[in-house]
This record gives sequence, C-alpha cells and structure tokens, in this order.
Amino acid sequence: MTHMTEQTLVKEAPVKPHLPDAQTVTEVKHYTDRLFSFRCTRPETMRFRSGEFVMIGLMGDPDEKTGKVKPLLRAYSIASPSWDEELEFYSIKVQDGPLTSKLQHIQPGDEIIMRPKPVGTLVHDALIPGKRLWFFATGTGFAPFASLLREPQTYEDYDEVIITHTCREVGELTYGRDLIESLKTDELLNDVIGEGFWKKIKYYPTTTREESPKMGRITDLMRSGEAFTDLGVPQINPETDRAMVCGNLAFNLEIKEMLEGYGLEEGANSKPAQYVVEKAFLD
Ligand code: A2P
Repeated sequence: MTHMTEQTLVKEAPVKPHLPDAQTVTEVKHYTDRLFSFRCTRPETMRFRSGEFVMIGLMGDPDEKTGKVKPLLRAYSIASPSWDEELEFYSIKVQDGPLTSKLQHIQPGDEIIMRPKPVGTLVHDALIPGKRLWFFATGTGFAPFASLLREPQTYEDYDEVIITHTCREVGELTYGRDLIESLKTDELLNDVIGEGFWKKIKYYPTTTREESPKMGRITDLMRSGEAFTDLGVPQINPETDRAMVCGNLAFNLEIKEMLEGYGLEEGANSKPAQYVVEKAFLD
C-alpha cells in the first residue's frame, strides 16, 4: 500500500530537475533589441572582487544523436559590486547566438547556471597607485565598470574617475547613464566615501552610428586631443593615470597600443602595473 502511494506521488508531482549550480533570476530589464540586463540570486559562499567575471549559461539543446544535454556557458563580467547580495549581468542579444538567443528570454523565477569561481584582471589589485583612473568601454564592455563604479575602493584609491563609453547608438548608452545617475543617491557610497563623492566621476559617452552630443570613437577623440580638452584633463601619463579597458577585440588592441604609446605598462594580478584589459563577452 505504502509503495503504491509513493509511486502515485512521484507520478503526480515529479521533482523539477534542478540545473547544476542553479541560481534564480530575480529581475530582467530590456534596453534595446540588442541589450538587456538581469539580476539573480548569489550563492552564499561566493566571494569576488569588483570587476571579475564568472561563467554563466543555460542547458543547451539535446544532442541530435545521443539526446544528451550539456550546459552552454560563457564568461560574463559581474556588473554588481562585491558587497551586493544579488548578482547583476549586462548582456548582448544575438538572434542566432547559441546562448544569448535563449538567455534573452529569461524571466524572474527562471534558473540559470553559474559556476561560482570568479576570476579576472579588471581589479584594483592589478594596478599600482595613481591619481586618475580611466575606464574605457564599448558596448557591453561597460559591465565590469558598473561593478567598479559601485565599489567604494574606486573612490578611496583615486581623486578622479573617468568613464568613457563608445556605442553605435544612443539607446545603447542607457544602462550606463542610468547607473551613473543612480550613484548620486547611492546610500552606501555617500556614507562610506562622503556626500558628493560622485563629483570625482567624469562620464564621456560617445556614439558612432547615431547622432548624439558627442560623436566618434574614443580612440579617435583621444588621438586628436579632443577628448582631453572636453574632459579638462592633460593627456594620459604614467605618473598619474591608470586605466582599465573592456570592449570588442579591435578596440582593446587599439587602446592597448595607445596606452603603451603614452608610456603605461600592462598589469596583472601577479604583477600590478598601470593598465589592464579584458575582452567583453560576444556570442
Ligand atoms: P563603429 O561603429 O565605428 O564600428 P560593437 O557593437 O561592434 O562591438 O561596437 C561597439 C562600439 O565600439 C561601436 O561604437 C564601434 O564603432 C566601436 N569600435 C569598434 N572598433 C573600435 C576600435 N578599434 N576602436 C574604437 N572603437 C571601436
């Protein structure tokens, strides 16, 4: 009798198969047809340094021959700061991208897979002390800076923080602009660093394929000197300036060459120096 009841129970209420390393989505925001952000639960034991990335994803489609499903994982910068109880991610949507074609449809309550082993070079530990910190981003490369801009150490360590963000279109700047605006009323940062800490931030958004107040690639705007004039700062130099770079591959290579040209040396966790680079996620 007992046996039968158990069997009936199993049939009526099958246990929902849990994904390995599952976390639950708590919020999703869509910005354009190419960009969205989402938040999810954070494993209690997971520690990370603002600016690091983790592998996240979903289960892939069953293999045509074997029927087996494998996790489909990609490296994503954590966009939330290290002190936040949830995790935030900022993602591109690629209609035929193996992961983002599916990930763009997640809803609160859904599960994603996250391997809780954060790593990365866009961390304060990889830079030696300086006065002015530059964040150079294109597209979704803004994500690690969304973390670092909410990290108290950023303002403890530097007098000035310059964030440049180059995107194709104006709508792609929204996530970054809203985040920077929200810092003005960020209770933790105002408490820890002091009221008005946000005056240390200089925000320099530019677009390349749609009309906006400042047009052009940041690389060209620095080469011509226009960016330095607009920002009211001298050209980058190795005594005072430190930089973190996160964008598409061509951008990273070009900025790297320019920073080396200004006399900055690339740093790493094991050997801190004057600038660090990370590739933004692309599907
Ligand atoms: P552009 O429109 O001139 O290609 P993407 O969406 O392709 O990743 O590009 C994001 C932004 O980065 C775009 O505004 C793009 O400008 C810009 N970009 C691409 N390559 C470079 C580069 N080598 N240097 C500076 N900006 C770049």
